[in-house]
Amino acid sequence: MKNVTDIRADFPILSRKVYGKPLVYFDNGATTQKPQCVLDAVDKVYKEYNGNIHRGVHYLSDMSSEAYEAARENVRSFINAEKREEVVFTSGTTGSINGIAFSYGERYVKAGDEIILSRLEHHANIVPWQMMCERKGAVLRVIPINEKGEIVLDEYYKLLSPRTRLVSVAQASNALGTILPLNEIISAAHSANVPVLIDGAQGIQHGIVDLKEMDCDFYAFSGHKIYGPNGIGVLYGKEKWLAEIPPFQGGGDMVDKVTFEKTTYNELPFKFEAGTMNYPAAVGLASAIDYVLSIGRDYIASLENELLSYANERLAAIKDLTIYGRSEHKIPTFSFHIKDIHQYDTGMILDKMGIAVRTGTHCAQPVMDHYGIDGTVRASLCFYNTKDEIDALADGIEKVKTMLV
Ligand code: ALA
Repeated sequence: MKNVTDIRADFPILSRKVYGKPLVYFDNGATTQKPQCVLDAVDKVYKEYNGNIHRGVHYLSDMSSEAYEAARENVRSFINAEKREEVVFTSGTTGSINGIAFSYGERYVKAGDEIILSRLEHHANIVPWQMMCERKGAVLRVIPINEKGEIVLDEYYKLLSPRTRLVSVAQASNALGTILPLNEIISAAHSANVPVLIDGAQGIQHGIVDLKEMDCDFYAFSGHKIYGPNGIGVLYGKEKWLAEIPPFQGGGDMVDKVTFEKTTYNELPFKFEAGTMNYPAAVGLASAIDYVLSIGRDYIASLENELLSYANERLAAIKDLTIYGRSEHKIPTFSFHIKDIHQYDTGMILDKMGIAVRTGTHCAQPVMDHYGIDGTVRASLCFYNTKDEIDALADGIEKVKTMLV
């Protein structure tokens, strides 16, 4: 197994300095860094075989198309979806959720129907549903959370009703790190014949996805959150749903026959892939998946669990620091606030020490409202981070306190 020093050497950016200090990158919830193999894979597309996919009979177009479809197969196997027809490439998690909110809404939602979300959701899993509800006269119902930042399952069970058309929840909260109880959520919804969408944006990078086991109906994630390129994402949908719902975008390649009177659509998954897709990024995503598999999902989980316990211990020992999100089921994401110090000041001073954290509401304002705060500092870690970096953060926070209190 590769040690962390060797793993870090795979990511060119991790050896850079910021303001003359070694970079401590703790903003993996926002985007992850890329290993050299991903950069090489994308570079190779442009240098050696760039040609628009599914459109030409020429050599380059064939090569690009093959690489793109191989990337789809790679994703399918990684997430353990049953069929390649169920794996649609999109621009990212946001694109995937907006697409389903539109298409599912068009096909299945009418006035008075209800969509269930949780209070832990990122705005990308709230606003598209709100827009659809406004269009259709449907209503959002929200699962509340407790003080630890966990959803209250009993309240969820009460929300499920014959009016529920869909449940859409995160795999893990981007703001607090809480891992949601998906087994309970999905099985209760299925007992009521309600499909479930999982926003996997914060789950995918920790490798925790097996769709056969999870049995959700839709799953969305972004390539850039799993060490792959930006501008590519995935929408998984069970074939029975994807076959029934209309496309969310019209354009080239998603059609079968076009006349001014009527257009028929292409087969799955192409029906949902209008226009020129970001095939170089899809190839990069496949390379990122290969990289994750080469490190090993179990090994990644064990490295991250160690970081999680160590950071918990170090941060909990800091006086006047409040951690929001105290669930025992967490990804290594820490949202915190230092008494009497604004999160932006903390973030800016940490930045000058070379430590990159996110500050603000993390696109999850309802979570902040729950705690009655206007934001937090968020350190989101992944397997290439180290205990030394956690020490640097803890020491940095102490320094912020001596400077500002
Ligand atoms: N969704 C990303 C985050 O949590 C941008 O930071």
